[in-house]
Amino acid sequence: MTKYVINGGKPLHGEVEISGAKNAAVAILPAALLVDGVCRIENVPNISDVTLILGILKDLGANVRIINKTTVELDCSKVNKQNVPYELARQIRASYYLIGALLGRFGKAEVPPPGGCDLGVRPIDQHLKGFSALGSEIQIENGYIYAVAPQGRLQGAPVYLDVVSVGATMNIMLAATLADGMTIIEPAAKEPHIVDLANFLNSMGADIMGAGTDVIKIRGVKKLHGGSYSIIPDQIEAGTFMTAVAAAGGEVRINNIIPKHMDCITAKLVEMGVQVEEDGDALIVRRTGKLTRTNVKTMPYPGFPTDMHSQIAVALCLAEGTSIITEGIWDNRWRYVDELRRMGANIQVDGKVAVVEGVKQLTGAPVCATDLRAGAAMVVAGLAASGTTEIEQIHYIERGYDNIVEKLSKLGADIQEKKIMEEDWRTSAG
Ligand code: EPU
Repeated sequence: MTKYVINGGKPLHGEVEISGAKNAAVAILPAALLVDGVCRIENVPNISDVTLILGILKDLGANVRIINKTTVELDCSKVNKQNVPYELARQIRASYYLIGALLGRFGKAEVPPPGGCDLGVRPIDQHLKGFSALGSEIQIENGYIYAVAPQGRLQGAPVYLDVVSVGATMNIMLAATLADGMTIIEPAAKEPHIVDLANFLNSMGADIMGAGTDVIKIRGVKKLHGGSYSIIPDQIEAGTFMTAVAAAGGEVRINNIIPKHMDCITAKLVEMGVQVEEDGDALIVRRTGKLTRTNVKTMPYPGFPTDMHSQIAVALCLAEGTSIITEGIWDNRWRYVDELRRMGANIQVDGKVAVVEGVKQLTGAPVCATDLRAGAAMVVAGLAASGTTEIEQIHYIERGYDNIVEKLSKLGADIQEKKIMEEDWRTSAG
């Protein structure tokens, strides 16, 4: 077991390269199940969620070749199994994409309900509703979801979602790609990774229109062919580095991003007094003076992303005045609050709303990463705080951040990954 140890209070300076998007990669890799041929996928982030998905694909019989740190070749033509092992699926939220991909390819999928970070209730009823609309029979028995298309192939159909769901939009897109006829998803989610999945599938021969709008139309095709595709940069990783500069100060050039995807985050940081300059596929982020208070409400794209909630909360803790944060997507994204309080933050939560009173300084403390983005927030807080912060349960952070210690060290941060001594974890257990 390891922890991060950060000696904070040092402004960040230099350049950082952003990796491929986690939430695109965890859908695009399973999408290779639909392809008849070899898919070369580039800009794959080196994170544990990707390792898990590749493990599941191997278990199903896919040929997985790691070409280099960011490129993988997948050949799923020999896959003949539709049952995903319980212990693998339970470790990751995105295992739900295996249902859409297996159902689309074989007309059959046996997948346990997904795991992932505890952000409150995380139903997948809208995914299942979509599969049913496409003619699948669904049963949940013995801890497994069994989905079967009685005619062997799904039938395209209109799907009206009751909530705007990233996962359901992408999963129904996967299931519909090889279905018979036209599927229409409405209202569809519009996140950048939805467009990325549609672009991946279209580049392999799918016929998907409207990704990035409220209405996505998928005309089923008989088969997909192999090809090469490069995953988009990770909006949330880039946003986390931007927030780290806001909280700790300094000037960092954030490379390999799509600035348009960052607008919702850039706008908030600019309101807080951070300077953000666009330069091609990079943003230069600078914070010299004090941070100003603002209000943040998380919403589906192009609104402020829920996956940036806890990181911007750290910057707001250090802003002058009182800020309000409203969580618009998840019931329980507040577990970072208790940890930040250990560092001197002044935050009160009531339901979906938090009131943040800015403090002059955060101080280092032993804290826990309670989920992926809460863990990222602890890193941001540790960088800004005076003294030493020790973060445990870093496996959450490694689910979604590629080489975060190395990237931050290059920016001048004093951050190290250290073994947790036996006596440490005995006293911190429970
Ligand atoms: N919802 C339902 N029924 C469903 C699906 C969703 O009621 O069938 C509700 C949820 O409870 C939630 C809202 O709809 O209130 C939106 O959920 P969504 O389906 O959009 O979320 P998700 O697909 O489970 C993905 C990301 C999350 C990110 C959300 C929102 C992946 C693997 N996960 O989750 O990412 O917070 O979209 O943008 O793509 C993270 O990266 O840290 C993370 C949690």
